[in-house]
Amino acid sequence: MNAAYQGREQTAAKHFILKRYLQALASKLLQGHLGTLTYVDGFSGPWESKTSDYSDTSFMIAIGVLKDVQQRVREGGRRKRVQCFFVEQDAAAYAQLRAAVMQHHDPANDFFVHSYHGRFEDAVDAIMKVVGRSFALTFIDPTGWTGYEFHEIERIMRHQPGEVLLNYMFDFINRFTAWDDPKISASFDGILGQNWAARLDRSLPREEAVQALFADEFRNSGGFRYVLWTPIEKLADRTHFCIVYGTRSDDGLATYRDVEFSALKDHGMRRSEAKRAVEEARTGVADMFAAAGILPPLPIENQVPELCRQAREWLLDELREGGEPRRFGDLWPPMLAIFRIRKTNAKVICVDLAKEGIIHASWRGGASQRRTPDDGDLIELVVTPSLSGDGV
Ligand SMILES: C[S@@+](CC[C@H](N)C(=O)[O-])C[C@H]1O[C@@H](n2cnc3c(N)ncnc32)[C@H](O)[C@@H]1O
Repeated sequence: MNAAYQGREQTAAKHFILKRYLQALASKLLQGHLGTLTYVDGFSGPWESKTSDYSDTSFMIAIGVLKDVQQRVREGGRRKRVQCFFVEQDAAAYAQLRAAVMQHHDPANDFFVHSYHGRFEDAVDAIMKVVGRSFALTFIDPTGWTGYEFHEIERIMRHQPGEVLLNYMFDFINRFTAWDDPKISASFDGILGQNWAARLDRSLPREEAVQALFADEFRNSGGFRYVLWTPIEKLADRTHFCIVYGTRSDDGLATYRDVEFSALKDHGMRRSEAKRAVEEARTGVADMFAAAGILPPLPIENQVPELCRQAREWLLDELREGGEPRRFGDLWPPMLAIFRIRKTNAKVICVDLAKEGIIHASWRGGASQRRTPDDGDLIELVVTPSLSGDGV
């Protein structure tokens, strides 16, 4: 494990997602028709950084990734503009941030860096001026649940084209017991909406009800088509925070699910390593399995078969209810939005259903040698419920 993240496995997971997603997004957009990409970091830090070059901070990770992608695109003969906007409230942290990031301001090579000392909520005008008509990825990484009141940052949330990654501090909210205190309760209004306590779904456990309400507010604030959650667990196996991702794009959805899978796999591995290190330090005995090169099972991989089974049931229900063939391209996005699976899983589900004779393998018709469906392929039940009487 990278020593800078020792004891900070959740930060490692958060930075993994930011880095990989930004890499995928920037590569796709800058190699395509997009002219300008803007990365907005609303809570930049540095915060608990353990490196002298800030390589374990969101701002330096973003600069590194964006410069690298921009350079590769330039080598392919295209000049694209990249902009970064960093916000930090704390004076001492801001001084460090500014000194580190402004070294990368390089207008001659179309790389622009802006920094703002103050509150994220107060930076909205300045941010939007820089964002203009560009694609904006905004990263919101607070230390608590205030500082990004949705009604104050709505123009950033709603900007199109754009997406938002947010670190939702699960524990802060759920650990909280003094909700009856009107002052404290009101401090949640900015992210849960006014009168939120009365709008909680009483049929759900409190944590889930708060999360559901938050997801609604986040979705409505940005007008997002898809809102995804990635839980990042603590060593003690209690959920520590969630990365929340909002997008209006099917491509973004598919890319995020890929990155999320790698992140959870990587994080599962890190957690296992960290747990083993703690255990070894406690007992003084090396883990026999580790010594034999056997790793504990990876949590996300264990979850995938069951998630795919549920997604398959969902798909069959959709096909039965609709009674009509559906484009694969209209089916996989809701599947990925509901279930934590990747587009490749959705394809395999269809291939398996075709092998079992439940749907037609429309992608193999005519001269096609394709083994899996493409977006335009029709997914259709072999025997419709009306003909069979009892469905599939
Ligand atoms: C969790 S840290 C950010 C870590 C950083 N994003 C990273 O991943 O390396 C949150 C930062 O936000 C700053 N901060 C707190 N409230 C803020 C606000 N309202 N506006 C802007 N920055 C704020 C804190 O001083 C702190 O440096």
